[in-house]
Amino acid sequence: SQQNTALNDKLLAICQLLETTIPHYNWVGFYFKNGDKNELKLGPYVGEPTDHDIIPFGKGICGQVAISNKNFVVADVAAQDNYIACSITVKAEIVIPIFVHGENMGQIDIDSNTPDPFTEADERFLEFVCAKVSALLEA
Ligand code: SME
Repeated sequence: SQQNTALNDKLLAICQLLETTIPHYNWVGFYFKNGDKNELKLGPYVGEPTDHDIIPFGKGICGQVAISNKNFVVADVAAQDNYIACSITVKAEIVIPIFVHGENMGQIDIDSNTPDPFTEADERFLEFVCAKVSALLEA
């Protein structure tokens, strides 16, 4: 729909702003709950194309956040056994859930080519971003 185009344009602009402004953010994208299926679907993103446009709940870092409803900060992706690799250049990942009326509707996913780059400041900042995205989804 036209409204969805406008929403996706805004989400893409958020990805572009984050990726260009913050040096340790190298892939920035959104995944959303795919209808009533127990899977995530890739939304707007910036960075290398990924084969993983559908991620079943429970699989990888993203799929785990879909179930846990909690931030997931991965200092070293090589140390994770439930991890879906998108690019061999990625060293670390952060995933923050997006809640709409208390329901986990999706997430922002950020990959870094820098080892162990994410701090609590990233978590607080990205929670703020996700709250803004939640308001966009409600509108
Ligand atoms: N690494 C993620 C998959 C998505 S890509 O990073 C774009 C995961 O383990 O869920």
